[in-house]
Amino acid sequence: MSDPDELLRIEGIRKTFPGVVALDGVDFDLRRGEVHVLLGENGAGKSTLIKMLSGAYTPDGGRILVDGRETRIHGAQDAERLGIATIYQEFNLVPDLTVAENIFLGRQPRRFGMIDRKTMEADADALLARVGVDVSPRARVRELGIARLQMVEIAKALSLDARVLIMDEPTAVLTSEEVEKLFGIVRSLREDGVGIVFITHHLEEIAALGDRVTVIRDGRSVGEVPAATPEDELVRLMVGRSIEQQYPRQRAERGAPLLSVEGLTRDGVFHDVGFEVHAGEVVGIAGLVGAGRTEVVRAVFGADPYDDGTVKVCGDRLRRHDVNAAMAAGIGLVPEDRKGQGLVLDASVEENLGLVTMRAATRGGFVDRKGQHDAAGRIAGQLGVRMAGLGQHVRTLSGGNQQKVVIGKWLLADTKVLILDEPTRGIDVGAKVEIYQLINELTAAGAAVLMISSDLPEVLGMSDRVLVMAQGRIAGELRATDATQDAVMALAVSLPTADKDTDKEASRGH
Ligand SMILES: Nc1ncnc2c1ncn2[C@@H]1O[C@H](COP(=O)(O)OP(=O)(O)OP(=O)(O)O)[C@@H](O)[C@H]1O
Ligand SMILES: [Mg+2]
Repeated sequence: MSDPDELLRIEGIRKTFPGVVALDGVDFDLRRGEVHVLLGENGAGKSTLIKMLSGAYTPDGGRILVDGRETRIHGAQDAERLGIATIYQEFNLVPDLTVAENIFLGRQPRRFGMIDRKTMEADADALLARVGVDVSPRARVRELGIARLQMVEIAKALSLDARVLIMDEPTAVLTSEEVEKLFGIVRSLREDGVGIVFITHHLEEIAALGDRVTVIRDGRSVGEVPAATPEDELVRLMVGRSIEQQYPRQRAERGAPLLSVEGLTRDGVFHDVGFEVHAGEVVGIAGLVGAGRTEVVRAVFGADPYDDGTVKVCGDRLRRHDVNAAMAAGIGLVPEDRKGQGLVLDASVEENLGLVTMRAATRGGFVDRKGQHDAAGRIAGQLGVRMAGLGQHVRTLSGGNQQKVVIGKWLLADTKVLILDEPTRGIDVGAKVEIYQLINELTAAGAAVLMISSDLPEVLGMSDRVLVMAQGRIAGELRATDATQDAVMALAVSLPTADKDTDKEASRGH
């Protein structure tokens, strides 16, 4: 008979999309009071699998059993009725509604037939306090930065009081502090008997939080192992080979300064920021969320204005707030919010990869379509973009593969100064190494790279120098080779003057 602790079981599930077999026989089960990690490369089928449980997709074959009974889950309401809540990898919030309206969408508390705003906002406030995020229930979702969006998604899922909680890369956009808070919540839900499906590309989180791991590769389950399994063994199961060197930085010869920033200030956001990035160099920017890192690079790229200071490329001063001028001067920016800013979701992989080069090419009055096609194919191959073909719409790529396309677009564009804002967010361990190798190639060819990263091992492992920002200022600079994570953190929290403006991130437009 069925095991009373088994919440759900998946047997031989299959799902095919035009041109892609996403799942080709996956088995999985979830018990009460456990964190079951789903591990696999970008495009392995993790998100597709959980979408069968949340009712977003129906399987082409195989069975789903809930409490031992075969069940069909059609749509979100079915899933909700079965006690299954999902936090999707791509956010599912309505930008023009408030935080509270999003949390209780479709289930707003009512009084005398009217939506009871007061109760709704008070309940939302309590949930937000529980996840430990400082955001008003009345704020519009469109005004929130990406980390806060994620915390609101989590609050929304908690409000459902589910028996099964599915989390698809919830930590990808969070900093270590927020991750710790989230882990606290997950542990207490586990104590209460909730079964949690947890997807992550951060291997260190597996032992810290998980109980069991199911590994999927190319749409098939390849094994189930304890969460305490050593990381290199997990990597081997996941990518089918071992990875020798996680951070293969090859230092290049340092040339002339390509990017020079002086006294850059935007009132209330960042102050007197100055640094140089030389040809052949990778300069990392570390800091906590809200330190102003993204704001600074967006200003350098011309996407946002600034009040004071100068930005020079190869000695030539750039007009402020002029993306076209920045691009013409050879600056590229891979933004942290790839969906919002980096991609045209309903265009093909090839069109997206060609977005920047196309501009340059048409300016000369001539587009080399064959050349574009070949170049797109080459870069997609180098980055290992998993797709049915160059014509596939970017919307239907897996999350990590979308991120590879954003990076590929700039790699193709012959960029002199490439700015990367959290470039490996959501990228699997194998593909990360490919991206690092491309960074090496760029610097070897004389480009300059400026990389924001909240992943300390990455920022130390792949940079030559690290700038640490705190509260809108550069708090210090370290040589990456002999800096420690502790030294970076000490600088990141170094400025004592509590800035009133902790809601900085919320003011950024998306
Ligand atoms: N709606 C769709 N139409 C066509 N192909 C799809 C669709 N959804 C997913 N796919 C394809 O199915 C495969 C599995 O994608 P999925 O999103 O499940 O990967 P994943 O394991 O979650 O990867 P990641 O770690 O990058 O998020 C990919 O090849 C993807 O392009
Ligand atoms: Mg996914």
